[in-house]
Parts: sequence; structure tokens; C-alpha cells
Amino acid sequence: MILVTGGSGFIGANFILDWLARADEAVINLDALTYAGNPENLAAAAADERYTFVQGDIGDAELVAGLLARHHPRAIIHFAAESHVDRSIHGPEAFIQTNILGTFRLLEAARAYWSGLDGRVRQQFRFVHVSTDEVYGSLAEDEPAFDETHRYEPNSPYSASKAASDHLVRAYHHTYGLPVLTSNCSNNYGPYQFPEKLIPLMIVNALAGKPLPVYGDGRQIRDWLYVGDHCSAIRRVLEAGVPGETYNVGGWNEIPNIDIVRTVCVLLDELRPLARGSCRELITHVADRPGHDRRYAIDAGRIERELGWRPAETFESGIRKTVQWYLDNPAWVRNVQTGAYRAWIDAHYPRHVG
Ligand code: NAD
Ligand code: TYD
Repeated sequence: MILVTGGSGFIGANFILDWLARADEAVINLDALTYAGNPENLAAAAADERYTFVQGDIGDAELVAGLLARHHPRAIIHFAAESHVDRSIHGPEAFIQTNILGTFRLLEAARAYWSGLDGRVRQQFRFVHVSTDEVYGSLAEDEPAFDETHRYEPNSPYSASKAASDHLVRAYHHTYGLPVLTSNCSNNYGPYQFPEKLIPLMIVNALAGKPLPVYGDGRQIRDWLYVGDHCSAIRRVLEAGVPGETYNVGGWNEIPNIDIVRTVCVLLDELRPLARGSCRELITHVADRPGHDRRYAIDAGRIERELGWRPAETFESGIRKTVQWYLDNPAWVRNVQTGAYRAWIDAHYPRHVG
């Protein structure tokens, strides 16, 4: 079996659902259920006997050691993190706590567990660290995309905390030999993404007839990847990646924010037209994010050459699926917006079970 951390968040939930659809192997999900963790994302897995949920913190050394001893996972896939740049600007502390200290404690627990394994089981154990392209900082318009040798130059508390976690993961390989793999991925989009991030925020605001807040001139560029493609890249890294190595993952889709918002509007005008006018009329330029990175772009050549991975979705196919998913799941949107699911969590999940 495998242990996933942060599996109730956006990418972790997609990863677990895809995993259960493809493999017979069981999954334990360790998630603290912060505001970003939503058990409803995994409603489809709840009755699956291969799926176990444990509410808890990756920094709880005793809990994690107990889980590893009891369940003997062959791999840990580490998604758990504070993940939103704007929140990190307003309150960096939680990012230091979870992304740096939490990852450190998880690495310590993994090292102790792995050290006690024997032979083939020890040799085949893997710790997969899911990280971001934001650790590389911002690119000028004419600079080549980030490859794995690009210098680390994080600019936000979020990216700095992820960079620190990447360094710790690297050090645990070099110092202790822990078989780690790191992936640095570009911006994801798709089902179950919390509507604080650009694409779901634009969709849910447009559906509610609210303004679509574009930071600054909207010419900042991100390299968008459909979440299912990120999940397939992680599976491939787990399966065939070389311990100690890092793999950049991206969609070859560099798109300015304003074009993303306009594309969402074109789709909504087609699929759920407003009574009058176009969704584009809701676009509102607002004050820029402090320290806003201008451009991210991933050179995903290495993972393609060495592991044979390429994204399956184009941006056109992925964004259409995504808009359709939000249209098809109004109850999910309503619940995350009203916080109804928090009450449900409190009623259904006693701490530290499983
Ligand atoms: P998310 O914010 O949607 O989910 C994070 C999950 O981690 C939540 O379920 C939350 O409850 C859980 N969590 C937070 N702190 C925890 C703790 N201390 N212990 C246990 N669980 C905890 O994030 P996401 O967008 O799914 O991102 C997952 C990972 O992928 C993160 O490490 C992020 O840095 C990385 N990443 C994200 C993107 C992106 O575009 N979203 C791109 C590249 C890399
Ligand atoms: P976001 O989804 O927060 O991801 P990240 O900051 O990790 O790249 O933002 C993506 C881009 O969209 C980023 O350049 C900031 C911009 N943005 C807006 O213009 N308006 C918004 O309301 C949000 C949330 C983001």
C-alpha cells in the first residue's frame, strides 16, 4: 500500500481517485483537514475497502510513526502543504509550520521507518515529494523555461517554504540515503480545486455574477497543466524515477492570466450564458499582488526523455472539462463556500482514527 499526505486537497484527491481507478493497491490518506482539505472530494472512495482516511498532522511524529509501523507502506506521496500564495502573504506562519517543519518531521518518520526495513522492501521504498515550479522564482519574457538545474530563487513566503522543503528532501537523500524523488510542477487546474485559485475563482464568481478580479495588468504568465496529467506524472516518477533526482512537470501551456479569464468567459457564455451580456463584462482589474512573479514556464523535457511522460490534455480540452465540472457540481461549490463541509467534518471525523 501507499501513504498519501494531503489527500483531501485538490491534487491529492484527484491522485487518490485516479489511483483507485487504476491500481489494486490500497491507499492511506493522512490529512489534517485544514480549510483546503475536504472529505467530500473523496466521497467516491469512502466505501472502497482499499481506502483509509486518517485525520492528523504530518508534524505529529507519534501518529506518523504509528501509521507507518501498522500499515507498512511501500511509498509515501507527500502532497500536504499550505498552498496559496495570497494566504502566505497575509499569514506566512502556517506555511513555515507545515511546509518546512511538517516536511522535516515527516522525513524523520520516513527515515526511521525505512532504516528498519530489510532487503528488497527497503530497496524499493520511495518518498515522493510533490513540489512547485515557484521555487525557481520569476522568468523574464525572453528567458528559457525552468529546467531542473535552474537556480532556486523563491519570491513569496509560499515558494520560500516549498524551496526549504525541497532542500530538506534533497539532504535526506545525500546524507542518509533515503530514496526520495522530487517533482516540481507548474500551475494545475481541474475538478475539486478550491475557489481561491485563479481558474475556479473566476468560474464561481462568474456564475454568481460577481466581478472577476484580475491582478494588475493580467499579463503575468503561468504554465497550466490539467490535474490528471500531474497525477500521471507522479505515478510515473514513483514507478521509474531515479532516487535523489528531481523532475520538472508542466503542460507546455504558457498563457497570460487575462487570456485564461477570457477563455473561461467564452466557455461560460456558451455553456451557461448570462441573461444579458457577456461574462467578460465582469472582468475587473484590481491592485497587483505584492512581489507578484511575472512568468513561470517549465521545460518538461527531462521527464519526457527519461520517463516517457507527456501530458494527455491540451489546454482547450482541459479547461472545457474543468468548467463543465464546476457547472455539474453546484453542491460542492456551495458547500466549500458556505463552510457547510466544516460542520460535516466535525460531526463525522473524530481525530486520529484509522
Ligand atoms: P491544497 O491546498 O488543495 O491541499 C492541501 C492539503 O493538505 C489539504 O487537504 C490540507 O488539509 C492538507 N494539509 C495542510 N496542512 C497539513 C498538515 N500539517 N498535515 C496534514 N495535512 C495537511 O493543495 P494542492 O493544490 O492540492 O497542492 C498539493 C501539493 O502540490 C502541495 O504540496 C503544493 O505545493 C503542490 N503543487 C501545487 C500546484 C497547484 O497548482 N495547485 C502546483 C505544483 C505543486
Ligand atoms: P493562483 O491561482 O493563486 O496561483 P499562483 O499564484 O500559485 O500562480 O494565481 C495564478 C495567477 O493568477 C497569478 O499570477 C495570480 C493571478 N490571480 C489573479 O489575477 N486574480 C485572482 O483573483 C487570483 C486568485 C489570482
